[in-house]
Amino acid sequence: MSNSGLATLRDYIRWAMSQFKQTQLFFEPDGDGLFEEARTLVLGSLHLPYELHDKYLDCNLHADEHAIVQNILTKRIEQRIPAAYLLGEAWFAGLPFKVDERVMIPRSPLAQLIPQHFAPWLMKTPLRILDLCTGSGCLGIACAIEFDDAEVMLVDFSEDALQVAKENIALHQLEQRVFTHRSDMFADLRAQRFDLIVCKPPYLQADAWSQLPREFQHEPQESSHAGNDGLEFIQQILQQSSQHLTDKGLLVIEVGEHQQRLTEVYPDTDFIWLEHSHNDTAVLALTAQQCEALNNM
Ligand SMILES: C[S@@+](CC[C@H](N)C(=O)[O-])C[C@H]1O[C@@H](n2cnc3c(N)ncnc32)[C@H](O)[C@@H]1O
Repeated sequence: MSNSGLATLRDYIRWAMSQFKQTQLFFEPDGDGLFEEARTLVLGSLHLPYELHDKYLDCNLHADEHAIVQNILTKRIEQRIPAAYLLGEAWFAGLPFKVDERVMIPRSPLAQLIPQHFAPWLMKTPLRILDLCTGSGCLGIACAIEFDDAEVMLVDFSEDALQVAKENIALHQLEQRVFTHRSDMFADLRAQRFDLIVCKPPYLQADAWSQLPREFQHEPQESSHAGNDGLEFIQQILQQSSQHLTDKGLLVIEVGEHQQRLTEVYPDTDFIWLEHSHNDTAVLALTAQQCEALNNM
């Protein structure tokens, strides 16, 4: 991979785009692909803002800066490390989050749904929110910022993930009302109840991991694996949520490609499928009463 003759930021961005295209990298589906990835990495590696004015793109790089940019682009291309891990930062719902290989990179249609407050299904402004399977804490922290009187609990089984979530609580200065708690799903939450439960659980089928682009192999496996059919955790959450929702509470859960299968498994449950722009990633909502009914089936 020769990159001699590159002088400016603009040169590196253009060169990176060619390399990324040639090597068929995988890009986060929310982004603008080649250009966004190249600009994010070249500018981000030098601690420059993504929105940097174009006039600076023609500045020559210092010798040390050449090495930094080349190093990060090489890691992206040869090791397929995702940009978010290389830079230690991902954006979700318009907010920055610290990320590293201890947590999944935030990507969820809930980024569109949280600012809409799950209207019209959320009947009351939530005062207690649970983000189950929190990872970086992105869902719960985005909720805490939208519902600014709410206390939010971020729950994960992974102590490593909770450390990252704590860093994000501090980043957003939410220590007064956002807390972490280690639990195997609901097991250690005892009788606690919440007005809103948001959740992106692991939901990949056992054999799906190896089919994913190489970039995903850098994410923690326990973030994705969910038994032979991918429904292990989803079903557990659907069956246990009624014990943890208040009367007017709402469960919102991302279920990926399992929409059809869930309607087959629970033919008597009228799932609310929330609308958003990610076609292949379904999100369902259930009221406390619907969870109760499902629990009694
Ligand atoms: C799909 S990731 C979602 C992370 C985050 N909510 C997001 O949207 O980026 C699933 C998370 O569930 C956690 N997890 C896996 N098994 C768990 C369990 N039994 N109890 C609680 N959390 C679990 C993983 O550690 C991981 O952080």
